[in-house]
Amino acid sequence: MTSIQDWIWNERQQIGKDYESVEEVALYNESHSEFRDLKLESREILRLIGAKPGMKLLDIGCGTGIFAIEAAKKGLEVIAIDVSKTMLEYAKVTAKKAEVSITFEEGGFLTHTSPPSSYDLITSSFSFHHLPDFFKFIALDRLRRLMKSDGKLFIQDVIVEHNNYEDNINQFIDRQESVGGDFLREDAIQHFQSEYSTFDWVLEGLLKKAGFQIVDSSIQGGLLGRYLCTIA
Ligand SMILES: C[S@@+](CC[C@H](N)C(=O)[O-])C[C@H]1O[C@@H](n2cnc3c(N)ncnc32)[C@H](O)[C@@H]1O
Repeated sequence: MTSIQDWIWNERQQIGKDYESVEEVALYNESHSEFRDLKLESREILRLIGAKPGMKLLDIGCGTGIFAIEAAKKGLEVIAIDVSKTMLEYAKVTAKKAEVSITFEEGGFLTHTSPPSSYDLITSSFSFHHLPDFFKFIALDRLRRLMKSDGKLFIQDVIVEHNNYEDNINQFIDRQESVGGDFLREDAIQHFQSEYSTFDWVLEGLLKKAGFQIVDSSIQGGLLGRYLCTIA
């Protein structure tokens, strides 16, 4: 008999950037540090989501693990998942050097399994755009069930405001070029051309239909969005 497994998105395929590439992963922190202070950003997010020692947090698309490590340093129980084995290997080495304990698992929005109501906090930064919108809804529907009834979901990503979208995207690409040369220019172009960033009104609709209530949101420069949600 047919099941969702027959038609679900294959989240292990690399879309746009190849995060299974050892060279790409080795460059990740350095290139992102051109436009993000990764540790400071992590601490800011932990404050925003009300992270407290002992809370159970699932970080999806953990990448090189900086956020997961900051969360573990704060005393949270952290499960960090990613579909890229290369990213996970890198993150594990970094966590070991930082002397923190984190459960790293291979998996993603659509493949991670935990019992219902497992998490106080679910976070994801710059990873949700790897799913097309149709599968974003299915992912959110799954995440709602994984969250405790008083849990919080935090999503940060390239989320584009509909007003002025063309100018904002062009200015963003120019800004990326000014801080990181051709590498970050191409990175940004590839993002819009081949990955699945979405508009604010689409994401907001998906969140609401999946049973979330948006309690805080901001969109910087018309395209860097943060959404903090509870279960409606
Ligand atoms: C741009 S990186 C973001 C890493 C990190 N969260 C950060 O803020 O820097 C995107 C990450 O999402 C992962 N990824 C891609 N598709 C995914 C999926 N369906 N589920 C979970 N992670 C995914 C990639 O392997 C990559 O490590």
